Amino acid sequence: MIYLDNAATTWPKPEAVAGAVQEALLHKGGNAGRGGHGAAMQMARLIHQTRVDLCTLFGMDDPSRVVFTQNATHALNMALFGLLHPGDHVITSSLEHNAVARPLYALRQRGVKVSEVPGTPGAEFDFAFYRKAFRPKTKLVVTLHASNVTGTTLPIREIGQMAHEHGVRYLLDAAQTAGVFPIDLKNLPVDLLAFPGHKGLLGPQGTGGLIIKADVRVEPLIYGGTGSLSEEVRQPDFLPDALESGTLNGVGLAGLGAGVRYILAEGVDQIRVREQELCRKLWSGLKGIAGVKLYGSEEGERRAAIIAFNLGEMDSVELSYILEERAGIIARAGLHCAAQAHRMLGTLDQGVVRFSPSHYTSVAEIEKALQTVKEVAAEMGY
Ligand code: ALA
Repeated sequence: MIYLDNAATTWPKPEAVAGAVQEALLHKGGNAGRGGHGAAMQMARLIHQTRVDLCTLFGMDDPSRVVFTQNATHALNMALFGLLHPGDHVITSSLEHNAVARPLYALRQRGVKVSEVPGTPGAEFDFAFYRKAFRPKTKLVVTLHASNVTGTTLPIREIGQMAHEHGVRYLLDAAQTAGVFPIDLKNLPVDLLAFPGHKGLLGPQGTGGLIIKADVRVEPLIYGGTGSLSEEVRQPDFLPDALESGTLNGVGLAGLGAGVRYILAEGVDQIRVREQELCRKLWSGLKGIAGVKLYGSEEGERRAAIIAFNLGEMDSVELSYILEERAGIIARAGLHCAAQAHRMLGTLDQGVVRFSPSHYTSVAEIEKALQTVKEVAAEMGY
């Protein structure tokens, strides 16, 4: 199998991640914060260490402001529903994944006003529109960092700066960049960062989080047991407990911590440069195949490790099926839970085939993928 679907979830994971999960399952499986006994304390320490390691990676000082969730979607819902009220106004982009688009649609039904900054392929975020979109009731700007369809990154520093000039918070969806692009919250105008644990951070599925800067208050999405202030029926108002009701995925978070430490040891830049090299090879190889249409910008440095393409008018799902049948190449086709981005690209009907290598992908695997697309194109008469 040639796994080129790391944008959906990275795989394989580092051995250290599997080892940390196994260690937690076999030897550290208490319930953090539920009891003062040794087993609960062991798990609490493991989870705390993961918060500390995430702070190191993302330039935060206070581990209590790293709130764990099931995934990035959960973190984004937590932020959007926890910050926005009827009458509030929010600005977003037209590249967003359903993790943002659907909560915003639901919030619209509750009286939240939404402005979507338009874009076109090659100019994905219209700053002239954005500048004029702010209103007295604008409370939040929310955008992704990189499109999960094309890998195109948005200019997040400029977007955040303009939000701050208007006294508005900026929520960043780092689903495709956390662990691969440098995200230093000390120096970025980002107030809330939503991240998945199972993509670039190399952790297990079922992990993710929301990092909340010091002066931002998010109301809970769910309420319940936290292991703290149990005598009170009111939800604790301190982090992370305010937003972390119910037993955490401690075993998964042990694995996530190992993934983050692996990245800190390897270096975010090294991982990204390796992935971008592979993507450049994919882009130039696909460009040379008759019948192939590529999407997104060719610019390598600003692209997350995603290459989107089609072969003529062939349905993208059919092509990905052929690639898997013929050579075990695993790609994600269709709409990638991001119809808005496909609307912009004009690919709502056809979808696109998405290749997303990881730093573990070999050059030989990339060459095999290119060779297979070439064979299919030739058979199709291109
Ligand atoms: N959002 C993930 C993807 O793009 C699952 O495939």
